[in-house]
Amino acid sequence: MIDRIHHVGIVVHSADEALGFFRDILGLTVTEDRVVEEQGVRGVLLALGENEIELLEPTRGDTGVARFLESRGQTLHHICFNTDDVEAELARLKGLGVELIDESPREGLAGRIAFIHPKAMHGVLVELATPPEGAHVSSEKGFDHLAVTVADYEAARQTWKQNIGLEVVNEIRPEGRGMVIGQMPSGQCIVELLAATEPDSPMAKRIAEQGERASSMVAIEVQDLDADVAKYRAKGLTLPDPAPGALPNSRTSTISADQAFGLAVQLIEFSQPS
Ligand code: CO
Repeated sequence: MIDRIHHVGIVVHSADEALGFFRDILGLTVTEDRVVEEQGVRGVLLALGENEIELLEPTRGDTGVARFLESRGQTLHHICFNTDDVEAELARLKGLGVELIDESPREGLAGRIAFIHPKAMHGVLVELATPPEGAHVSSEKGFDHLAVTVADYEAARQTWKQNIGLEVVNEIRPEGRGMVIGQMPSGQCIVELLAATEPDSPMAKRIAEQGERASSMVAIEVQDLDADVAKYRAKGLTLPDPAPGALPNSRTSTISADQAFGLAVQLIEFSQPS
């Protein structure tokens, strides 16, 4: 059964340089750091509560990851979900006729892994992983939310329910933004489906320009946003002043993707317990 997000994977030019941010500035702990020859990558996992961030640095030029970096630059590559039985999930997905990249599991950084084709997931590359015994486990909250932009909200909702078992439990229509946010919990993180509800909204323009994809962003809940913004500014980063977020009772500021090796880090503070 798929029970939570395991990690988000981002492709970077240099894992060492990216560690200067994720390990040294954000303060995350490295749980894995090794070269996976078969995939032509150096992979580094960093723990963030029950979730992890995976850095993927191509070690040769003839791989999909290297081509992705060349064409898209440093950005989010995939979202990985944790399951206790990746074989069973693949059998279930095959039975549904879902297009897969891996027909059977293989060894990856996070354990026994397999990828679902992004065509089957509205443009999002999804990995499933069954970690080995003794792998990093935490009961702490990790990401607050991730977001995926979709053109057809109802179709995407059905797809995520069928393929991953996530269900929209709450819908938010922020005032004046012409969009809907469908919240799908996975463990302690929420995967948001973002769709335009008005043709001229910024979200409609974003989808027209970029297509359906996962946002290269993770949101992390903080207790004292002003203190965190001051802390990261003192470390040399540029962050905007905290401002009301799209979610109710929230204030946010963001470490931009260009300062965070392609993965924007939104800091979110809730004025009421979330
Ligand atoms: Co991965």
